Parts: sequence; C-alpha cells; structure tokens
Amino acid sequence: MENKGPIGVIGAMTVEVKGLIAQMENDRTQETAGLVFHRGLLGGVDCVVAKCGAGKVNSAVCAQVMITQYAPRLVINVGVAGGMDVGIGDLVVASQCVQHDFDTTPLGEPQSQLTICRGEGEESFVMLNSDQAASALLLEEARQIYGGAHLGVIATGDSFVADPAKGRQLRRQFGAKAVEMEGASIAQACYMNSVPFAILRAVSDNANDDSPADFPAFVQACAEKSARLLAKALPRL
Ligand code: ADE
Repeated sequence: MENKGPIGVIGAMTVEVKGLIAQMENDRTQETAGLVFHRGLLGGVDCVVAKCGAGKVNSAVCAQVMITQYAPRLVINVGVAGGMDVGIGDLVVASQCVQHDFDTTPLGEPQSQLTICRGEGEESFVMLNSDQAASALLLEEARQIYGGAHLGVIATGDSFVADPAKGRQLRRQFGAKAVEMEGASIAQACYMNSVPFAILRAVSDNANDDSPADFPAFVQACAEKSARLLAKALPRL
C-alpha cells in the first residue's frame, strides 16, 4: 500500500530549518526527547520538520522518533557541509553516505562494516544508498534554480573536520565530496525502518585550515540556500 505519510525534514541547527518552519502552514508542534517536531504544510505538501542538534546520536534519535511517530514516506536531511574539491556555496546531493568514523579495521577487517540486526540475523554495509528518485529530483531542481549540484558520497562523523589531511583521506578512502555530522546516521535509522532518505547540503567550508573562519562566515547563507531549494522541490517529491 502506498505510504501517505508526510515528508520528514531534519536539520542539525536552527539556521538549517528555521526558514522552512517559518513558511509552514497549520504548524502543529509536538515534543519528544526534547526534540520539537513541526507538522504542517510546506508549499501545500504535508511535512514534519525537526531540528536534531549536531552529531550522529542526536540525529539518529530524531530520525527514529520522527519515523515512529509520523511514519514519513521519505526523510530528507538538509543543511551545510564541508566540501572536498567543491566550491563554497555549491550544493551536494548524496548518492550514498558513510559513517567515516566507524572503524573496526584493527580487528583485521579490510574495510569497516556497519552491522545491523535483522531479526535473529544481521546485515552489514559500508555505505547506504540514497533514494534515487528523490535525489534525481533535487539535482534537477538545483539545475533549474542554481545551475546544478554535485552528486556524490557524503561522509558523516562526530567531528567537525578542519584538517586538510583528513579531508584528503575521506576523499581517497570513500570518494567523499562532502563531510558533515548527521546524514549517514539519519540514513541508518531510515534504513532500519525501510524508509527512503535523501541528503541535501550546501558547502559552507572546505574542511581545511580555513574552516574555523569560513564556517561562521558562510553557514547562514548556505543553510538558507539548501532549505530554499528543498522548499522548491517539495511539491515534486
Ligand atoms: N559541517 C559543515 N562543515 C563541516 C565540516 N568541515 N566538518 C563537519 N561537518 C561540517
């Protein structure tokens, strides 16, 4: 049966979701685990929007609560990211995402495998695939409004990356185009619940020595850019 639930939108920081919440019609709020969920219409589309706070645990808890309470048909993570070989202000849509700080290689594994429980069994993966249709639509909308967006791997971890060597490693190891702190943990919660997900980020810095200055300088404009694009795309998602 077709899932008629809302589209879920999660951003880590106020600046990443406040424009969307401000536009919401018939906004009803509900709080769980200290997280505030806004249910209403965005461009006529039934949505639920929440700010999750930075990092993998905050974002996974938020995604699970959202899924349990609202049964979204799709979850989209919006916000900013550090870009690798990608310009500040550019948009990145995740083809796949990876938790770059999950590391079991000291146990002799060639590549860290995340394991999730599947009933009495288990399943392992390195990357999770974004929903192709939603990602293609975000790319198409970005092409129409901003002249395009990058499609590639987004790497997620519990640290703000401001070391160019770390950025290069993420590029080499995972082919990552951008690094942030929530996308792949939201993706895992979605995967465990069979909910499709997409990640849309605007590049606020280049995950290098300039990041501590670039991030505060560009975070607002970039967060607004990704939220604006998402708002435009929602009626087609
Ligand atoms: N979000 C925005 N820039 C980032 C960076 N350099 N590292 C991690 N998350 C980010």
